[in-house]
Amino acid sequence: MTETKRIPIILDGDPGHDDAISWVLAHGCGQFDILAVTSVGGNQTIEKTTYNTLRVCTLIGLNAPVARGCYHPLNTEQMNAPTVHGESGLDGPALPEPAFAVQEISGIELWARVIRNCDRKVTIVSTGPLTNTAAFLLAHPELKDRIERISLMGGGCLFGNWTPAAEFNILVDPEAAKIVFESGIPILMAGIDVTEKALVTPADFERIRALNNPVSDIVWQWLEFFYRFHKTMGYEGAPMHDPCAVMVLIHPEIFTIRDFYVQIETCGDYCKGATITDWHGTLGKTPNASCLLDLDREAFVNYLIDSIRTYGEVEK
Ligand code: BDR
Ligand code: CA
Repeated sequence: MTETKRIPIILDGDPGHDDAISWVLAHGCGQFDILAVTSVGGNQTIEKTTYNTLRVCTLIGLNAPVARGCYHPLNTEQMNAPTVHGESGLDGPALPEPAFAVQEISGIELWARVIRNCDRKVTIVSTGPLTNTAAFLLAHPELKDRIERISLMGGGCLFGNWTPAAEFNILVDPEAAKIVFESGIPILMAGIDVTEKALVTPADFERIRALNNPVSDIVWQWLEFFYRFHKTMGYEGAPMHDPCAVMVLIHPEIFTIRDFYVQIETCGDYCKGATITDWHGTLGKTPNASCLLDLDREAFVNYLIDSIRTYGEVEK
């Protein structure tokens, strides 16, 4: 694929096993022009997710500029998820030390620079809390129209995973999510309605292990680690939440997608962080999000494996 046909994107996440695998997919599939990678606090502190971002980019040979994102959620205390991703935020196999350093400018200023310099509109792929995206929109409203769309992992039309009502990424920074969902920028929402069905099973781990390249060797171990926690909750595989936000940009045909009006609950005793989805259109509002509801799991896994296979081929 020629460079001009690639989709220009910024990767923003809190790696995190499934964030890391979504970046393996994004780089491996060869269909994106990755302009920048930024970290956000979520699965672990911003210090740890930034270090993990550098380690993952080093592992997969992703040579985009990396910058540290916001230090805190917009208006609430930072929350992390060590039970799911470990104390490092990316526990499991040993990773290479970073081969390069973060940019001296902030993540927000890096976004501004690459978006300004890009001759096409840029897609944001957000796989963590939406803090950086909201902070960018507040700091650079003049660049809003230069964003093609935001493909995000977060929320759920019907239920939550961190509380009965809220999914983790939205719960960590609901004010940021509210700004993003009210921005008017086209949103692709990969919520847990679909991501909990994007399971990579132990049989799939073996297929990945058999690829036997430097990235597959790490990915199957990440999957095993991630599955260990989810198995205790009754899952039959590792849910690939974050890779859905990447996959939908290159293979939308494998997903069931419906447009809804989605509001964010920023407070409340029971529903803080909920993505309140107007399923029956009772509010009469124009939809602001295209929500992923279902997927062809086998096709998803096959495409994921195809992307991991490329790391054993030519130099990327
Ligand atoms: C989301 O929360 C994080 O733990 C994962 O990386 C994913 O982005 C799933 O709720
Ligand atoms: Ca994540």
